[in-house]
Amino acid sequence: MCGIVGYTGPQSASIPLIEGLRRLEYRGYDSAGIALGTPGKLFIEKKAGKLSNLENALDATLPNVHSGIGHTRWATHGGPTDTNAHPHVDNDEKLAVIHNGIIENYTELRAQLEAKGHKFSSETDTESVAHLLSDLRKEHEGDLTAAMRDAVKALRGSFTLLAIHADKPDVVVGVRRNSPLVVGVGKGENFMASDVAAFIEYTKHAIELGQDEIVTMTPTSIEITDLEGKSVKAKEYEISWDASAAQKGGFAHFMLKEIFEQPKAVADTLIGRLSDNNQILLDELHMSADEIRSLKKITVIACGTAYHAGMVAKYAIEKWAKIPVDVEIASEFRYRDPIIDPSTLIIAISQSGETMDTLMAVRHAKAAGGRVLTICNTNSSTIPRESDAVLYTHAGPEIAVASTKALLTQIIAVYLIGLHLGQVNGSLKDTEVRDLYKELLELPGKIEQILETVEPLRELTRTFAHNNTVLFLGRNIGYPVALEGALKLKELAYIHAEGFAGGELKHGPIALIDQGTPVIAILPAGHEHSLDEKMLSNIQEVKARGARVIVIAEEGAHVEGAEHVIRIPVAPALFQPVLATVPLQVFAYEMAVVRGNDVDQPRNLAKSVTVE
Ligand code: F6R
Repeated sequence: MCGIVGYTGPQSASIPLIEGLRRLEYRGYDSAGIALGTPGKLFIEKKAGKLSNLENALDATLPNVHSGIGHTRWATHGGPTDTNAHPHVDNDEKLAVIHNGIIENYTELRAQLEAKGHKFSSETDTESVAHLLSDLRKEHEGDLTAAMRDAVKALRGSFTLLAIHADKPDVVVGVRRNSPLVVGVGKGENFMASDVAAFIEYTKHAIELGQDEIVTMTPTSIEITDLEGKSVKAKEYEISWDASAAQKGGFAHFMLKEIFEQPKAVADTLIGRLSDNNQILLDELHMSADEIRSLKKITVIACGTAYHAGMVAKYAIEKWAKIPVDVEIASEFRYRDPIIDPSTLIIAISQSGETMDTLMAVRHAKAAGGRVLTICNTNSSTIPRESDAVLYTHAGPEIAVASTKALLTQIIAVYLIGLHLGQVNGSLKDTEVRDLYKELLELPGKIEQILETVEPLRELTRTFAHNNTVLFLGRNIGYPVALEGALKLKELAYIHAEGFAGGELKHGPIALIDQGTPVIAILPAGHEHSLDEKMLSNIQEVKARGARVIVIAEEGAHVEGAEHVIRIPVAPALFQPVLATVPLQVFAYEMAVVRGNDVDQPRNLAKSVTVE
């Protein structure tokens, strides 16, 4: 939820720290701050608001020192003010701490520390850690790592913590529990951050950390220990993303860049998935043919946009593999008594791999004996590490808060799983799989075609910019598309938007239609059950009540009653979401731009939601 970065090395520390924070700002952007390792007393600056406020406050007197920590915040405890911004310091201002997550027992700790004479200045849970660490460090005769070890034992909750002390300013100490932290291994310099994007410009060597592992880094050393102080072997890996992937590359916003990266993201996720003898290759599933044949149920858990990919999974997997699929919002899953046994496959979908609601649902499923397969875009993040199997999507870093390319690749992953399960359990013939896979390979080109013709849609969008309600209608596989269109519009344009199944309209929502209400209808592809005709009737129903209707329809499909028709290329009906979602992303993007909203960092949101 917050972004964290630490640096020690030869550079003037404020440069990699501010650069890192800029890359992490998607994680939280209501305040930002840095602590620099000036000997004697730390240099601290922190400001409410965007990172640019902090940058403006850092004037020419900025010390040229070589270590520090930086933080960009998404407020949980205490509003977004200068005082509540991180870093938090002890009373000598010699020790500074930054934190992502929640310290659940902070009230108790604060009372104990205040009773010992510590003076608190903020309303945050984090400040308790600064005071606690300060005491523990004294007990351990200046050993910050030993102090961190004891502090962690006293803390409840989820956290990534980084700390620095003015007496040994080139040492940065970090720890993680249920919250992300990666180490970047440089030459004569080292980094720690919530996400590799923060240091990818400087190094592509990273170390993943396990739960409760403590990192002590200097410019030339990285030591990882467990809570007992025992040395832990570093798990190093190469970062496959390149630095340019985390930059805007000439686009006005990351979101627009990411929308335009979708053809490549989809193509990359599909690469090498069909063998010469037409078998879907998904070794990552780690499931034998017998295990697949004995599956009785699949439950998909995810949040937000990823949940919409889960809804697509239901249609695709039930159709191809004939296995019943439930889709559940992750935050609801573990608070009922879900029936899970070894014949249930749990599929978790998460772009970041850090979403706390999804992580907790995964843990619940595993504890109940379920097998968990995760679809994820972020290498070595927590959810994949705790799952039995992982299928990585290849969307590359998604920086804009609103998810676009990650969704399309999640849907592709879901198709691959559906085809594989159906092929192995005999519901699909090899030739059917081959033909469907060929159609999948056509999708990147078809997305490109849509993107080449979006300009008129952008113009049209501007005529809706002052509406306060927009409704989306879909049927069958178009229903999750309608939900996604509405979610994108809400989060980016701050407009009341709802997605409905076309057939539900007459059961209540039609009362929302008024003169001029925009309604975007996704005309079902294919003609199964005459769903397209049913949607055309829904269009007439809303039009008769004054709605302005935009229809998304396949090339050549018959459309009536629409003020505007957005054409998408023809594809098998189940693949329609990959195409029909794209104009809706552009619609939401343009609405946000016209309304003057912050596209990449919409209000009140954060990219990675690491609190429940
Ligand atoms: C919406 C959006 C969110 C995320 C949700 C899950 O545009 O981005 O709804 O989809 O927070 O995030 P991940 O996929 O990281 O678990």
